[in-house]
Parts: sequence; C-alpha cells; structure tokens
Amino acid sequence: MKKKVKRTVPKKKKKAASKKKKRKIHHRRKFKKIERVPTGIKNFDRLIEGGFEKNSTNLLVGSSGSGKTVFSVQFLIEGIKRGEKCLLVSFEEQKEALYENMAELGFDLEKYEKEGKFFFIEHTPEKVKRMLEEGGGEIETIVLSKNISRIVIDSATSFILLFDKELEKKEAALSLFNLLKGWNCTSLLISEENPLEERHSSRVLDLEADSIILMYFIKGKKERERYIEILKMRGTNHSLKAHRYVIRKGGIVVSKSPSKMPIKK
Ligand SMILES: Nc1ncnc2c1ncn2[C@@H]1O[C@H](COP(=O)(O)OP(=O)(O)O)[C@@H](O)[C@H]1O
Ligand SMILES: [Mg+2]
Repeated sequence: MKKKVKRTVPKKKKKAASKKKKRKIHHRRKFKKIERVPTGIKNFDRLIEGGFEKNSTNLLVGSSGSGKTVFSVQFLIEGIKRGEKCLLVSFEEQKEALYENMAELGFDLEKYEKEGKFFFIEHTPEKVKRMLEEGGGEIETIVLSKNISRIVIDSATSFILLFDKELEKKEAALSLFNLLKGWNCTSLLISEENPLEERHSSRVLDLEADSIILMYFIKGKKERERYIEILKMRGTNHSLKAHRYVIRKGGIVVSKSPSKMPIKK
C-alpha cells in the first residue's frame, strides 16, 4: 500500500510562493545598485558606504576655518586622480591665495589646471544669479565642453543670501539644484554656517540636498577640535556618530573610531 505523504505546503500555496519569488527577483532587477563616488577624504568613505551617490548634490556645512575648502579641493583632486575633470566655482577665495594655501597641503592645483584636469571660476554670487537666469551661461559651457564630472560651489550660502524673501530663496535653490542635476555631475555645495546654530539660509538647501555633512570646529578642553558628522545621506546606511578629524599635509584625515563631542546638542 502506498504511504500517504503529508505535504507541509499545499500545492496551490507552493505555486503562489514561487510566483512571489519570481516577482521579487524582477523587482530587484528594476533598481540598479547605487554607484558611489569616493570623496578621497581619508577614512570618511567607509562611513558612507564608499562615497557620495553618483550625480548627487551634497551639502557641506561648517563654520569658518572648519576645513570646508580643504574638503572640497581634496574631493576634486580625488576625481582628478581617477581620470575625471573637475571644476571649482568660488565666490570666497581669490585664485592665487587659494592655490598657495592648497600647495601648502600638497595639492598642486596649478599643475592640474595646466594639464586641463582642473578648472577654476572666480565668480560673484550676482554673476551666478545671472547665469541661472540665462540657464547655465559660462559655467555650463565649461561643464559640457570639458566633460566635468565633479563640481564644487564655494559657497552656496552667499548665493542664496542674494535673495531676501523665503520664496525667492527657495526658487533660487531649486533652479541651482536642477541645473546641477542636468549636468550629470557629482556636486558639493558649501554652506558657510555654524552647524551648532540655527541655519537660516540653508533651510532651502537642506530640503533639496541628497546629503548633508556637518563639520564642527569647537572649543575642547585645551584647544579647538574638529568633528565631522553625516546628518543625512539618501539611500545610504551611514554612520550616526561624530568622528574627529585633523587637517595636515595631504588634507583631511578622519579618525576611524567615533568620538563624543565636547558639547551638548
Ligand atoms: N598646511 C596646513 N597644515 C595644517 N592645517 C592647515 C593647513 N592649511 C590649512 N590648515 C587649517 O585649515 C584651516 C582652513 O581650512 P578651510 O578649508 O579654508 O576652512 P573653511 O573653508 O571651512 O573656512 C586653517 O584655518 C587651518 O586651521
Ligand atoms: Mg572656505
């Protein structure tokens, strides 16, 4: 006599389960894995799954002297080392002084510029405003003709501050983000603000940014200390802790292990 085998899953259900599995695979195929752009900041990429999302717009917030310009130049140089072309749009620094300061850290911007790998545009925020009204202007010409893939705007706050009404600021921020998105670049917008204080001009930038990085430069027991923190990064399982960093020859080096900041937030 044939022995009756008890099925653990009824036939019908089993079929449904396998269908579900198939659908799941299909679902997975629909979403590509996020491509990452390493920042080049030592020990930082490990905190953000390898780097910024490709073609994302990232906001770097910090008070004066925290190291935002160093971070941005290091990010651009990492691109150059990987064969990319990079652009720095600056309202804050004069070319000569910037090149001199960066040379002290070991970044030879003059050489990269001569080799056609690095481009520097010194603009007033007003000029950028006009550029937005024209829909790209000189910056767009460089980005497209030179095939730029990393771009830094130092700083986006001085641009936003050109507008006084909240709605105008919002619109300006939106058009800046849209322009950057259309260029297929991974961008870094600098926000010159103390992350410990309420940040008025950045609120409109915060909403649109794919990521927000905070750089603190705060009084410790003996001297000022620097800490970096990731406030938001879309699609990324990032560190939720503050990490100390130093600036030295070669640029910013982030501490591998997190630290407690000497302040209450
Ligand atoms: N060669 C260097 N060695 C050590 N620290 C440096 C060097 N160059 C700059 N720094 C530090 O970096 C600071 C400037 O960083 P920067 O990126 O210009 O700040 P931010 O753009 O946030 O105002 C300086 O005030 C100094 O503390
Ligand atoms: Mg600066």
